[in-house]
Amino acid sequence: MCGIVGYVGKNKAQDFLISGLKRLEYRGYDSAGIVTLDNDGKATLVRAKGKITNLEDKLKNNKKDDKIGIGHTRWATHGEPSEKNAHPHQVDKLFLVHNGIIENYKELKAELNEYDFKSDTDSEVLAALINSFYGDGKYPLTNAVVQALKLVKGTYGIAVVSELNPNEIVVARSGSPLVIGIGHDETLIASDASALLGHTKRAIYLNDGEVATVTANNIEIKTLNAEPVSAKVEKIETNLAAIQKGGYAHFLLKEIMEQPESLTETLRGRVNIEDGVVHLGGPGIPETELRRIKHIVIVGCGTAYHAGLLASYYIEQFTPEITVETVIASEYRYRQAYIPEDSVALIVSQSGETADTLACLREIKKRGVRTVGIVNAIGSTIAREVDGGTYVHVGPEISVASTKAFTSQVIAMVMFGLTIAQAKGVKNAIIRPYVTEISKLPEAIKEVLNEAEGTVRKIVKKYVSYDHGIYLGRDVAYPTAMEGALKLKEIAYVDANAYAFGELKHGPLALIDDRFFELALLPEGELYDKAVSNVQEVLARGGHIIAVTNVDKFDLSVESIIKINSEIKIFAPLLMNLVSQLFAYYMTVEKGYNVDQPRNLAKSVTVE
Ligand code: F6R
Repeated sequence: MCGIVGYVGKNKAQDFLISGLKRLEYRGYDSAGIVTLDNDGKATLVRAKGKITNLEDKLKNNKKDDKIGIGHTRWATHGEPSEKNAHPHQVDKLFLVHNGIIENYKELKAELNEYDFKSDTDSEVLAALINSFYGDGKYPLTNAVVQALKLVKGTYGIAVVSELNPNEIVVARSGSPLVIGIGHDETLIASDASALLGHTKRAIYLNDGEVATVTANNIEIKTLNAEPVSAKVEKIETNLAAIQKGGYAHFLLKEIMEQPESLTETLRGRVNIEDGVVHLGGPGIPETELRRIKHIVIVGCGTAYHAGLLASYYIEQFTPEITVETVIASEYRYRQAYIPEDSVALIVSQSGETADTLACLREIKKRGVRTVGIVNAIGSTIAREVDGGTYVHVGPEISVASTKAFTSQVIAMVMFGLTIAQAKGVKNAIIRPYVTEISKLPEAIKEVLNEAEGTVRKIVKKYVSYDHGIYLGRDVAYPTAMEGALKLKEIAYVDANAYAFGELKHGPLALIDDRFFELALLPEGELYDKAVSNVQEVLARGGHIIAVTNVDKFDLSVESIIKINSEIKIFAPLLMNLVSQLFAYYMTVEKGYNVDQPRNLAKSVTVE
């Protein structure tokens, strides 16, 4: 979603602002802008609809040596993507960039009726509100920001500068991340630490309700109630290589192909093959409490939700006395759902910033239920607010479509389930096969990716002209089918839906005709024969089946077959999902769409 950058220091602000915005491009945006101030406070504001290259074109005639400035990439919420709606918004001598949503902007706008608004955004209302307290700059800008924010309902990460004081940036957050990077005679601001890489490794993550006044050599943080905050300086662990394509055509392909390594990071120090057990320190739940757990609620959105659903099937297999319910965060936050005693909630999020998931976390915590994060982004809001957690450690996921995070989220949750099973005294004979397969998965993933890439690439060509796809699976292959269909629709814009095989007869079978292909996930196992019967029913109606299977003697006469050769059985669906990921990737490449930044989408959904 929207991105914020800011700079004050010894170097040219425009250079950092543009390079920082480019780092945040992956989050999705539709317009961009920057403002810088010279020593006398004279502002240069440049904004453009569309890509950052459009902004750069405009900047060619506006090159400045200014040492302070703020910038923004906007993902439209209020008002269409256009130059007038792009940030920074100017009100008199004040400039503001804003991530988030001001929910009471209409009421505030009505109060500010003397001001002539130039955009359709809620953000400009916030700029005007701050300015109404700031006026001719008699009071410190920080005070004006605080006064205004006390009246605001909604979420924000903001950066504000004024022509009246060209030495400081005021930043604040509530529900939308902001990081302050500490350099040598320079201070940098970003909504995502990746923008700071190459400049500094030292950063302060602002908390909700905090306001910082930032100059080149000083950072002063207070709460909205004027209490001083002594901030913790943290080390940014990510390195530059992790956010570069490393020779791949797209981030998505890189992220699919690096799953053997990313899963290895998830498992590091957590699996003991000899004893057939796992050790997860992060959740920090005492064994007596683990033994009492009767119910797990798993909360996530999109891919994280699918990961939770798949994990729930597994957890039920080895801890039969536990119920596991996986819920979509945007729904759950408004449901009147009862959470039984002795429950634990798993909060699943790659970015750790998803607004709906965060809202659920806060609601669940209020009810006194213990929360455990399954998060990738270190230091993210969800990671900081959960009671305990397990980082999946897959490194930055830059492509909008989530791939490597899914695989690791599933396994991290299964390991959490195994931790409970161990505490409850489930026999090692039951647990051990899971642990053994988990330890072998990175290598198996490597082999499958190497084998399947070429096959998938070829097969995709047969299906490029299809606008409809049906993904089919049952049991553990069903959530896997859901994830495959999501990948295809979000990047290749193919209308793809997933059904449990058993549901076909209850409606979807009516769809089968030459406009549709059906991707059938057919793992070896108890339900394989039943799934084969369902495939026969589709074939009898002229279906165009692509079978993905690990069954040695697969003898169905279907249009295309993608074979998985691996000793992995329990987690075969995770291997099949690699095929779905590659299928979506190559389909998108064939269609010539933007793989890493699909239209209308953003990487981290920080608004409701
Ligand atoms: C799909 C995708 C989204 C995210 C969802 C949750 O490829 O990326 O569906 O999975 O927006 O995001 P996180 O995991 O950051 O909470």
